[in-house]
Amino acid sequence: MGLRRVRSEVLARSIGAWRRVAGDSQPRHLVGVTKRLMLDYGYVRSLRGGAPVQGQGEPVPWYTFPAIEYLRGLDLSGRRVFEFGAGNSTLFWQARAREVVSVETDPEWYEQLAPRIAGNGTLVLCRDQDEYLAEITRHEPFDVVVVDGLWRKPTARAALRHLAPGGMIVLDNADWFPHSHAVLRAAGLVEIDLHGLGPIGRYAWTTSIFLDRSADFWSTAGPPDPIGGIRPPEILAVDAEDE
Ligand SMILES: C[S@@+](CC[C@H](N)C(=O)[O-])C[C@H]1O[C@@H](n2cnc3c(N)ncnc32)[C@H](O)[C@@H]1O
Repeated sequence: MGLRRVRSEVLARSIGAWRRVAGDSQPRHLVGVTKRLMLDYGYVRSLRGGAPVQGQGEPVPWYTFPAIEYLRGLDLSGRRVFEFGAGNSTLFWQARAREVVSVETDPEWYEQLAPRIAGNGTLVLCRDQDEYLAEITRHEPFDVVVVDGLWRKPTARAALRHLAPGGMIVLDNADWFPHSHAVLRAAGLVEIDLHGLGPIGRYAWTTSIFLDRSADFWSTAGPPDPIGGIRPPEILAVDAEDE
């Protein structure tokens, strides 16, 4: 069988499979949603590169998409961030915050990331649990502490101890770590559980954000437009009208 024939058979089978799943839903909608996910959310680029990116390839954390978008809307310019577990998140934070300190346990991953750390960033390799937990104690309290590496429950406790007033803790994969999540929930912070898909993974998960009750991370410019969002001018015109 010629290559062309094989290709058209594969295509016909894929269309058949798609039809069986999609039934008589409008193809325009299905294609539109798939395009948003594949291109606008950076799913294809992230999968190809093996690390989460969005837009034109800007690094983003390996959190759920709703969590990434929520964090993109915050003003972190004067803030200090500590991360348990480094990655493209480190590059995301260093582009937005005043200072970022990240601890990482994987030497290979550390070597890969180290050349990309900017002047406001510090990446520390700690293979030992005690050292890993101690790193945060060597600094002033942080405005943001991210729990996204090894030893989640002890790092969640350390995050609470070293959080500055008005700060925020991010716990990724909260659905996989219910005990670590419970430690943070019990602290009386404002809890926001952001469930959804994210870069690379084939499943949904939860990134939880815990805000101190005096937190004020919101810029006066208002939230950014959502990825793949639209702004119908006729609705904007009505919204701008007086009561
Ligand atoms: C799922 S990652 C998340 C790390 C980071 N907070 C982020 O959002 O990018 C947890 C651990 O996996 C490793 N890691 C981070 N980024 C990775 C990548 N792109 N590919 C493979 N391993 C990665 C690091 O050892 C890291 O501590």
